[in-house]
Parts: sequence; structure tokens; C-alpha cells
Amino acid sequence: MRKIYVFDTTLRDGEQSPGVSLTMEEKIEIALQLERLGIDRIEAGFAATSPGEIESIRAVSKRIKDATLLSLARCHTKDIDAVVEALKFAADPCLHVVLATSPIHREHKLRMDKAKVLETAEAAIRYGRKFFDKVEFSAEDASRTEIDFLCEVTAMAIRAGATVVNLPDTVGFATPDEFGRMFKTIKETVPGIEKIQLSTHCHDDLGMATANTLAAIANGVDQFEGTINGIGERAGNTCIEEVALALETRNDFYGAKTTMNLSELYRTSRMVSKLTGMSVPGNKAIVGANAFAHESGIHQDGMLKHRGTYEIITPETIGASSSKLVLGKHSGRHAFKEKLVDLGYTLDEEQLNIAFAKFKNLADRKKNVLAEDIRALMDENIAEAPRQFTLDNLEVSFGSQSQSTATVRIVKQAGDIVNESGVGNGQVDAVYQALEKATGIQAELEDYTIHSVTQGTDAQGEVHVVLKQGELTASGRGVSTDIVEASAKAYLDAINRLVSRRVQERKGNIVID
Ligand code: KIV
Ligand code: ZN
Repeated sequence: MRKIYVFDTTLRDGEQSPGVSLTMEEKIEIALQLERLGIDRIEAGFAATSPGEIESIRAVSKRIKDATLLSLARCHTKDIDAVVEALKFAADPCLHVVLATSPIHREHKLRMDKAKVLETAEAAIRYGRKFFDKVEFSAEDASRTEIDFLCEVTAMAIRAGATVVNLPDTVGFATPDEFGRMFKTIKETVPGIEKIQLSTHCHDDLGMATANTLAAIANGVDQFEGTINGIGERAGNTCIEEVALALETRNDFYGAKTTMNLSELYRTSRMVSKLTGMSVPGNKAIVGANAFAHESGIHQDGMLKHRGTYEIITPETIGASSSKLVLGKHSGRHAFKEKLVDLGYTLDEEQLNIAFAKFKNLADRKKNVLAEDIRALMDENIAEAPRQFTLDNLEVSFGSQSQSTATVRIVKQAGDIVNESGVGNGQVDAVYQALEKATGIQAELEDYTIHSVTQGTDAQGEVHVVLKQGELTASGRGVSTDIVEASAKAYLDAINRLVSRRVQERKGNIVID
């Protein structure tokens, strides 16, 4: 079986999703989980963005032992020097340089002719090879590049010393047939192609990222790039989980597989959703809440007779075993620990104490604590950077004939306690008025969604919000058995992200040019 290498860019292209900004601690947490997932190559960021970005990538590099670690650079020496700085402690570093090759980018963005593109990319790859044994070169907008020129670019990259050549469908324009043919031509005609690995990187503007990635794999690429949950610029990147499961389930067709630990997928998806604040739609392939739910009578009947009638992947494959009754308020620490192990969590004593206290608290409010509840609770447990504001108390009153009121108490990072109240058109509005006063931060609520973690009137509610302040947006997530409390937590989570984005200004105004 041919091995397909997996390159994860959740921390770089994924972080370019509107409203997403990860702190250093969050990047480390995600990178460690990607390593548990068995990802071969992790792109930790775009070093030249800012000194803060270099510091984050370096912090990640000190913790990652098994995966290759990359950082992106444009074909400028200062960008490559920033990657040298960022990756100097990495166990297995790789430089990733990019230059656009398509006519529209050459003419309007780069203002370079073909010769200049070749010269610029070659100089950058050669410069990079002075510092790195491994260099990946990406021909941005490859799918809209003349095929002859793309072959020339690939041949140049090989001669200059690139070890991986990546040909992206940057704007999600290609169709699977065309994209597959592009790789076939490259493989058949470029001299020296056998010396390097060929890679693909797709965007989902027309909903074809997974299909295009699979077409590239069927036509011989060694590596595919993507993100967890498909997050990323615009409509996002290829979903790693979709390609990995397609290869696993249809290896009879593709004859190729990743070496990922698929049972870590569900956990990774939840972690990325939690830390980026980007929710996963219920009907999302592989990791959506309904991906394994069978609603219609005919399907349920078929499932009872033979699971294979309607189920081509089991929830267990991705570590999402579902929810029979798990625990209740009389369950002890030992039973709780065993359930955690069943669900794939291993905690040290201190983490277990914190998680157990949260479980007891939840069990007081909810009769049956199910697998999904425990996962939501563990998501809350993920180590987070110190936050500017923490919710300490919340009281609300509601009358159908009167305005709602809310009083909040928040603790600031420095330890100061602030009490404020608000009046609003409904409880959530009242809470948001109070939080706005307490934090002193005004932001527009752009989006608000809520869903229930399990069934039943005592189920936990999970709220996602998107806040906008000037040109910045930030998303946030909160979970509680009380939906007003979940709403408050989500709002404060987004406020904390806005504050950290303002402070770090890590993304700057850098564009790939
Ligand atoms: O979409 C793209 O072309 C990219 C490159 C930097 C690989 O993200
Ligand atoms: Zn991209």
C-alpha cells in the first residue's frame, strides 16, 4: 500500500480564517494533538508576520518531536531568515517557500514575467537550502498556470534543491479531472521528478477540495495538505479527516493510505473547533454531530438488521463512540477516570482533580452524564492562555411582560473584580449589555448559534458567537447546562480573543506577494 504523507496547515492557512487568532499556548496544544493524530508534517505559521509569530512557532518547535515542522516564507531573504529563527530548535525543520506562477498573479500581483518568476523562486530555494536540508516549494495558483510553464517551474525547483514541490489549487477553481491530468503530465514529463515528493494543496471555493485532492492522489502525488475541519481562507482548505477516511475506506480504489491514528480524529476536530471558536456543522462529513445518526425508520430498520446497510465507517474508527448512559452524580472518581480512558483521555493527577470537580458540578445539574457531555467538559479543560476576563458569577431575571435584567461579576487578569448590570431585550441581550460594560469593550454581535450537546431538557447547550470590532472579528464558544450561561461564556471567550488579537497584532497586513 502506497503511503500518503499528510501536511497539516491548521496553524497557518487555518489560522487565516476570518476571526481566528490562536495564542501561543493554543498553537502548542493543537500541534501536540496533531502529533498524537500521526500527522507527518505540521506547518506552524508564517514566521515573517511578526516577532510574536516567530516566538509562537519556536515554542511549538520545542515540543514537537516526531513530525516535521514547517513555516511559510515568501521568496524574500528576510522571510526565509525569519523561518531560520523560528525553526532553529525544531527536531526536523523544513522551509516552505511560495511564489505565484499563474498569468493573473504574474501580471497583476507580482508584476513579473515568466523569467523573473523562475529566477526569483530559484534564488529563494537555493538561499533556503543553505539553512535547511528540506525545502518545500509551492507554485501558488498552480492550477491556473500554463501547463508548460508549470513543468518548467517544477523542473527548476528540483534543480535548485527543493525536496517537495507543491502544486496548489489556490482559489478552488480546478475540476477533479483537470487537476488529476495536471499531476499526470507533471509526473510523466518533468525530468528528475522521481527525486522529489509531489504535493497538493486545495481550497474549497466550489466545494471540490476533497475531490481534487483525491484526484491528485490517484495521479501519483505523495503528499496532500489540508486542515482539520477544513478551516482556512474563504471557504477553507481540504478537510484532512475527509481525505484520510476516503483513503481508509476506499483503499481498494486508491491503493494508498495515510499512517494517521484515525481514532484521534474526533478529539482533534473538537479541539480545533473549541480553540478556533469555529463550529462544525452537524451534517459535516466524518466529524459532524449527525455523521453517524440514522433518523429514518427504513435506515434504522436496516441498521438493526445489518450495520453495513447504511454505515460505511463506524464512529469508533474516528474515536467518536457514542452515548449510552455513562455516569451520574453518585459515580466516583475511579469510574470517572475509567470512562475518560475509554474515551481516549489520559490525564495526570492534577488534571484529573480539576476534571473530576467539573464533572461533579455537571452531575449536580444534569442527571445522566453521557459520553458527549464528558467530551464537552474535557474541551473546557484544554489548557488555555491566561485570559483577560473570566466570568465569576451571573444572575438574570426574565419576565414576559418586562425587560430582562442581568448582573455579572467578572475577574480581570490582574485580579480586579468588576460587577455590572445590564437591561435588554431578552436574557442574552441583557447579559451582553452587562458584559460590555464590565469589560469596557464594545463589539458588534455578528453571529450567534446554539445547539444541544445531547438530548433532554437538562442537556448542555453549546453556543458559538462571532464578534466584530472595527476590522477585526473573533469567534467564541461556551458550554453549560444553562444556555444563558453558555451564551455569556461564548461572548467572553470572543472578547478575550479580540483583546489578544489587538495586543499581538500578529497577523499584520502581510499578503503573499
Ligand atoms: O493556497 C495556497 O496556494 C497556499 C500556498 C501558500 C501553499 O496556501
Ligand atoms: Zn492555501
